[in-house]
Amino acid sequence: MFSPVLFRLVSAIKLYLLGLKVLVIQLFSKRFELPGWFTMPRQDGKVAIVTGGGRGIGYEVARHMAKLGARVIIGTVLYCTLPPLEFKKLDLASLQSVRQFVQSFKERDLPLNILVNNAGVMLVPEACTENGFELHFGVNYLGHFLLTCLLLDTLKLSGKSGNFSRVVNVSSSAHRNGEIRLNDLNCRQRYSAHAAYCHSKLAQLIFSSHLHRELEQGGFPVSSCAVDPGMVDTSLYRHLWTPLRLAHGLVSRLLFRTPTEGAATVLYAALSPTLEGKCGGGYWANGRRDATTPLTFDPEVQQLLWETSQRLLVPQ
Ligand SMILES: NC(=O)c1ccc[n+]([C@@H]2O[C@H](COP(=O)([O-])OP(=O)(O)OC[C@H]3O[C@@H](n4cnc5c(N)ncnc54)[C@H](OP(=O)(O)O)[C@@H]3O)[C@@H](O)[C@H]2O)c1
Repeated sequence: MFSPVLFRLVSAIKLYLLGLKVLVIQLFSKRFELPGWFTMPRQDGKVAIVTGGGRGIGYEVARHMAKLGARVIIGTVLYCTLPPLEFKKLDLASLQSVRQFVQSFKERDLPLNILVNNAGVMLVPEACTENGFELHFGVNYLGHFLLTCLLLDTLKLSGKSGNFSRVVNVSSSAHRNGEIRLNDLNCRQRYSAHAAYCHSKLAQLIFSSHLHRELEQGGFPVSSCAVDPGMVDTSLYRHLWTPLRLAHGLVSRLLFRTPTEGAATVLYAALSPTLEGKCGGGYWANGRRDATTPLTFDPEVQQLLWETSQRLLVPQ
């Protein structure tokens, strides 16, 4: 309907307007604060994987979990040594890397109690993953889809009644601008980095919701939920349009959440006893269950996205 240029422009304006709205709401809402780390349940003996935990929100999540006694493995592209956190190579833009990460994790015969699908890219210039998928779709959604599916058996074995394993998908309010074009998940017909980010976050949310329903129906001791961390001052914004990047640099320190504040709802979803068992699932923002677009709960869309994703992962 739109020309490619107009499509890019409209998608960008829609995302920036949404961002502005979210920021205003965030400024006038009371910030959710996690109960002091000493009042959260200890996590000794538990194992957590946090993707993209080398910086930003993921790092704060990993650090906090480790402080509570969990053994935390960070899956990331650039890794270093920062005990007690363990860094392992995981490039979500490579299906082979995801498979290798899972294989080496399983060789260690560890349980897996918490999986935080946090890594993400936003507004990156048009590019493809190693396997030819659009970068936002490949990293934010498909890489995590594969990772979760491959780890599901370990998550199921590690959970028990009253102590479910948890999958926490770090999504975004940007999902509200997303659409699912099942015949063009790779955005080949028309491309906008802004739209691609929104689509990937919507796909992640639909996946989270579908996974939770399947696990619940199957009676497995695993829950899956999605979280919006709010607008957080991290390097995620480094690909903004140049004038906006300059403006962002000025306002983000004042108006955005810090990574620690952004991590609060993610940690709440991953650790809080109030979200145990049947109370798990859903979409969480600022420490509360929040509404999402109706598409998230459409069983037909969920099923079609799941099947299409599985087909995409079959080597051609
Ligand atoms: N910041 C916000 O305002 C905001 C708002 C809503 C949602 N979120 C979501 O929050 C999550 C964390 O973002 P952030 O704000 O903390 O951003 P960030 O500081 O840029 O961190 C992103 C993380 O993702 C990792 N990553 C990127 N590409 C990867 C790949 N191919 N394979 C493995 N890891 C990869 C990065 O690893 P390297 O360090 O190795 O590159 C980094 O650790 C994202 O999913 C984002 O969509 C953020």
